[in-house]
Amino acid sequence: MSREGDLEGFAKAVEEAFSKIFEHAKKGSYVRVTSHLDSDGLAAAGIVGCLLHSLDASFCIRIERQLDEEVLSSVSEEGADLYIFTDCGSGYLDLILEYLGGRDVVVLDHHQPVEASGEKLWHVNPHLFGFDGARDISASGVAYFVARSASPEEYVYLAPVAIVGAVGDMQDRNPERELRGLNKQIVEDGIRYGYVDVEKDLLLFGRETRPVHVALASTTSPFMPGLSGEEDSCYAFLRSIGIDAYSGDRPRTLSDLSWDEKQKLFTEVVKYLVSKGVSSDSILSLIGCAYTFLNEERGSPLRDAREFSALINSCGKMGKAGLGVAVCMGDRGSALKEAMETYSEYRRRIAKFLNWVVTDPGARVHMQSIDVVRGEGVIDDRMLSTVATIISTSGLMDEMRPLIALARDERGRIKVSARTSPKAVSKGLNLGEIMNKAASLVGGRGGGHDIAAGANIPEGGVEEFLKAIDSMVKSTLGSS
Ligand code: C5P
Ligand code: C5P
Repeated sequence: MSREGDLEGFAKAVEEAFSKIFEHAKKGSYVRVTSHLDSDGLAAAGIVGCLLHSLDASFCIRIERQLDEEVLSSVSEEGADLYIFTDCGSGYLDLILEYLGGRDVVVLDHHQPVEASGEKLWHVNPHLFGFDGARDISASGVAYFVARSASPEEYVYLAPVAIVGAVGDMQDRNPERELRGLNKQIVEDGIRYGYVDVEKDLLLFGRETRPVHVALASTTSPFMPGLSGEEDSCYAFLRSIGIDAYSGDRPRTLSDLSWDEKQKLFTEVVKYLVSKGVSSDSILSLIGCAYTFLNEERGSPLRDAREFSALINSCGKMGKAGLGVAVCMGDRGSALKEAMETYSEYRRRIAKFLNWVVTDPGARVHMQSIDVVRGEGVIDDRMLSTVATIISTSGLMDEMRPLIALARDERGRIKVSARTSPKAVSKGLNLGEIMNKAASLVGGRGGGHDIAAGANIPEGGVEEFLKAIDSMVKSTLGSS
């Protein structure tokens, strides 16, 4: 589903966006950057922050849960000379133009765009050039290309940050767990300049940093029932297959295991997951491309792209987005330390929500064509996205029944995270479109990608919203 796009057109839009940013930086403008709170949003903001910093621009970065009227109204009151939106904006161009029309706006995004144009709008989005924003490039990649267009040599050090955003958005969701399309060019830049190494490996979380039983327990992509989140069970599992988690007193990491031990571990995990009914596609996603950042210290969670991404994602979702942006901009001191603490707390909270979904009979509702997680009042809306992604990639769900997860936000509105499988997308399902239509029926807003989308709706509209989604999914996929 990776597409051949119009590279020249994309490069031209990238250059024009850079020229606008450069022009403002050189005349001493004040630049306001707005980005999204997940790892791609934080990585994109970090890249734009590094670019603006090196251009000596005066700027301010704010991270938002979602772009809406309230956010845009407050942004518009700031009186900036240039407004940059990263990882948000393309689906909300009408609102942006309503609040910021007549002012200079740069949107660097990868969500399915709505149609809108303005004389003072510089919009860079892969979908406009025939690329796929869910698989070929993410917002941090778009931001990277903008920085790179100034000078490849000067900004290639940001390639790892762009990779962090792409894996955070699961753009590697293919059998090889590999970044493809325009993402691959970023990886190649990183390799060429000695920042990135790629190897095929077992993709346990914490390959270089965690004792192997802890790494196994920390792996949630795919979700492994009985092992994910269960360190003691993982320790017992390793013992039962004759792999030592310790060498003397020293814990062993995955990278300390011999090739034979890794093979054995994989074979036994596969047998175990097959016995638990996990699908073969999910099981195979345990092997794939590991992206290592050679400029990060050995033993640092920032050395592995997926760990880096999880770390900053947790900052965004725990209300400490500034830490995530600081780490992306190169802070390896106090921000990194606090980010690591935040990540531990985040993991505990996610495990609690997942446990609720799995054990509480009222948590999941089966409609004709969709499964709904009724997390209103239980799941923190900022963590809903991660919970939905983990459940939908667990391999335990019916691939042809999309997951719609709900939570209530602090303003009493309903936040929705919708996820489906590559198989359902190949049958024509487009959750971004469905969320957009169903949310507007009830006075909300929605959008996103075909495979993963979301919405924000008023609480009173929930039942009508769900029925509308159920019927739209049924008309594309039928009911099961
Ligand atoms: O706002 P944004 O695009 O960054 O959110 C993307 C969300 O969609 C992430 O939670 C990611 O896990 C999910 N996703 C997915 N499969 C894909 C692409 C994205 O589950 N192929
Ligand atoms: O928040 P979550 O990760 O579930 O969102 C999935 C995708 O849907 C993201 O790409 C997000 O930016 C998008 N989305 C949207 N409009 C909303 C909510 C989410 O475009 N109101």
